[in-house]
Amino acid sequence: ALISLRQLLDHAAEHGYGVPAFNVNNLEQMRAIMEAAKETDSPVIVQASAGARKYAGAPFLRHLILAAIEEFPEIPVVMHQDHGTSPAVCQRSIQLGFSSVMMDGSLREDGKTPASYEYNVDVTQRAVDMAHACGVSVEGELGCLGSLETGMAGEEDGVGAEGKLSHDQLLTDPEEAADFVQKTKVDALAIACGTSHGAYKFTRPPTGDILAIDRIKEIHARIPGTHLVMHGSSSVPQEWLAVINEFGGEIPETYGVPVEQICEGIKYGVRKVNIDTDLRLASTGATRRFLAENPSEFDPRKFYKAALQAMKEICVARYEAFGTAGRA
Ligand code: G3H
Ligand code: 13P
Ligand code: ZN
Repeated sequence: ALISLRQLLDHAAEHGYGVPAFNVNNLEQMRAIMEAAKETDSPVIVQASAGARKYAGAPFLRHLILAAIEEFPEIPVVMHQDHGTSPAVCQRSIQLGFSSVMMDGSLREDGKTPASYEYNVDVTQRAVDMAHACGVSVEGELGCLGSLETGMAGEEDGVGAEGKLSHDQLLTDPEEAADFVQKTKVDALAIACGTSHGAYKFTRPPTGDILAIDRIKEIHARIPGTHLVMHGSSSVPQEWLAVINEFGGEIPETYGVPVEQICEGIKYGVRKVNIDTDLRLASTGATRRFLAENPSEFDPRKFYKAALQAMKEICVARYEAFGTAGRA
């Protein structure tokens, strides 16, 4: 059944668990997520980015998610739009039937340039007015996502476009968060607490508190009724990096957010945990390995299946680690 983000995260808050939000672009990802959810009895958040809409097209994405709901009617599913760059983008997703949208007003409409606080409040307020009138939840974002180690916002190639961010910019301010939530009435808030998007988060194996756990606590204490969201939450599994590189890939040494650090965050108010990169790495590793080990095979379903299985294992592991398992 389709449910809103508010419905699911209220339940998660009441019972103290977190929910991974996996990005979806194609059938194999969608199936991996649903089969893992079924196996672990977990509720689901699937999210579609602008890149996903560009790749698959909005109608295909919409029907992919609706097909998942039809095939797995017993599993609650939140259909979420990831990183909307304007109220107009959110409006189109609401019209398509999404039950939740992210209005990311921390950046200007180009999705790159940091926006002013006033701009963020304005666009987020407008998205919330529209969405709430339709029973749709809204996630906002306050602060600049960036690695506490490298100070970089994170990009595909590991080179940030905007240059190094200062320590202060890398952490959401609790007082500003309180003001933002009071003005915008968002259901969930993405915060900057030391994570960054993509595979290149940390250059050394992270030890101890690589995230600003105290800051998460402080923000949660100021806005206890607003669900916190952790973007850039891939753990960048070293096993999959090794498989990719063993079978012809070239990915430099890099580290992600340890699952235990995410679990610390969940203890202190994080409810939605965004994961995209980990499924990409598992899928690429499994595909490279399958093709290298089966050079005469040319039925794509064979390597799609290997990729699906690899992604499913990651999903199962996250559902179990975050306490989502058994909550459907
Ligand atoms: O936040 C970004 C997600 O990882 C989606 O990435 O825009 O390449 O689909 P994408
Ligand atoms: P990762 O790149 O760490 O998987 O983060 C994904 C994300 O935050 C999507 O919004
Ligand atoms: Zn994100």
